[in-house]
Amino acid sequence: MSLLSVKSMSATIAGQLVVEDVSFEIPETGITALLGRNGVGKTSTLRGLIGLIDRKGEISFGGKDISGMPTNKIIQLGIGYVPEDREVFASLSVQENLKLAARKGLDSRWDFIEKLFPDIFGRLHQRAGTLSGGQQQMVSLARALVNENQLLLVDEPTKGLAPKIVQETAAALQLAAEKTPMLLVEQNLTVVKQLAEDAIVLEGGRVVFQGKAKELLSDEKLTAKYLGVGGGDE
Ligand SMILES: Nc1ncnc2c1ncn2[C@@H]1O[C@H](COP(=O)(O)OP(=O)(O)OP(=O)(O)O)[C@@H](O)[C@H]1O
Ligand SMILES: [Mg+2]
Repeated sequence: MSLLSVKSMSATIAGQLVVEDVSFEIPETGITALLGRNGVGKTSTLRGLIGLIDRKGEISFGGKDISGMPTNKIIQLGIGYVPEDREVFASLSVQENLKLAARKGLDSRWDFIEKLFPDIFGRLHQRAGTLSGGQQQMVSLARALVNENQLLLVDEPTKGLAPKIVQETAAALQLAAEKTPMLLVEQNLTVVKQLAEDAIVLEGGRVVFQGKAKELLSDEKLTAKYLGVGGGDE
């Protein structure tokens, strides 16, 4: 059974079609990678799913129709969203950032957050704007993980990070995904190889591949065709 089912979703920004007739399924466990070249509509797909941009189509989550539902209601059903540009509140402390995100207070998830992000846990009173890019990414992820979610939508969490921090982030994602399934937009194919069981590839706002991530990444012709790169070891 699938956790999220999307049938013929299209989405628009300022009247312009950015996602066109997209259909896919997300299983109840593990990480599904959402891939595709720059500008194909990965971020817009995530934003359309939770109603942050205008969308049409059939979207069902845990058996519930969420296609006409407002964003706040969808989030309450248990979908966590980690946006592409991190969007931490720069002038607030790490702890304040987490507090604002927590729907039911911080207590129940504190130990989990500490285990995943020991570095930011040691900086709870530091202003988020003074953290490194990697640390801000950890805060952004932690904000989604302070809540008991059924699904996480995570948009390019390793973008612009140093290789060592990329690996730390990947490790945190892996631990997080043991509890909560994830739809992950990720350009680093080494990370995709490490983490993702399934993969969906978009091209021109449409799905051109859905299947096992291994099947896609072990096929150089497919990866070159859809992603414009050769394999996952760059
Ligand atoms: N705010 C906006 N206003 C107008 N067009 C936009 C806006 N945001 C995105 N688009 C357009 O929508 C299309 C899809 O963009 P989107 O950001 O969803 O792609 P993406 O696959 O996430 O790209 P990237 O790999 O660069 O993150 C692109 O053609 C983009 O130019
Ligand atoms: Mg994007």
